Amino acid sequence: MSLTALIRERRSIRKFNDVPVSQGLVFELLEQAERLYDHAEKVSLRYIYAGTPDSRNRLVDYMMEPMTASRLGKLIPDKMLGIFKKRFVDIPAHVIVIAETAPDRRRSDQNYADVCSIIQNFQLLGWERRLGMLWDTESIIQNEIFFKRIGIGEGERFVGILHIGYFDKTPKGRARTLAEKKWTVFQG
Ligand SMILES: Cc1cc2nc3c(=O)[nH]c(=O)nc-3n(C[C@H](O)[C@H](O)[C@H](O)COP(=O)(O)O)c2cc1C
Repeated sequence: MSLTALIRERRSIRKFNDVPVSQGLVFELLEQAERLYDHAEKVSLRYIYAGTPDSRNRLVDYMMEPMTASRLGKLIPDKMLGIFKKRFVDIPAHVIVIAETAPDRRRSDQNYADVCSIIQNFQLLGWERRLGMLWDTESIIQNEIFFKRIGIGEGERFVGILHIGYFDKTPKGRARTLAEKKWTVFQG
């Protein structure tokens, strides 16, 4: 597949099949994604992997905690919560990506942007192997309790969870806004 086609055709995957994902492959692709991102400064990041039924179960419980613990959440029928939970627990692999922060804003932003670039490389490399992903940054997981549960420490920033698995159907791409619609010419 050409690079242009790979970039154009990669899609976020939200519906996975149950074909197992090898931890070794995820590790190999992350390593490759980092190697392909050749930046002058060292990128400071770490990953937390959840690939066993037990760890996936615990991770999804933590993800859902704000929902299940809230007063509104308590009104949601158990059956519905169960369906929602199963949808995530059944996904074969999850990688939490954490970037180091720095006291200096520019360095912090630079490192965060570097980590995002590595994630995109990882998504593209996965796509080449028919491995689908969803980069999840939903507001429900953006809270201090979740961050504490997964062990995000001082000087660290949550970048997202990548839900990973194989898939049967490629979703249609969304229409994109043309660059010329966002374009102004600097008048000086
Ligand atoms: C930084 C970032 C965060 C994202 N967070 C979410 C998310 O929380 N939930 C979600 O459904 N998709 C999320 N996505 C996926 C985008 O919604 C997706 O890229 C968009 O739907 C375009 O689809 P495509 O990836 O198939 O081109 C995220 C993507 C990026 C780059």
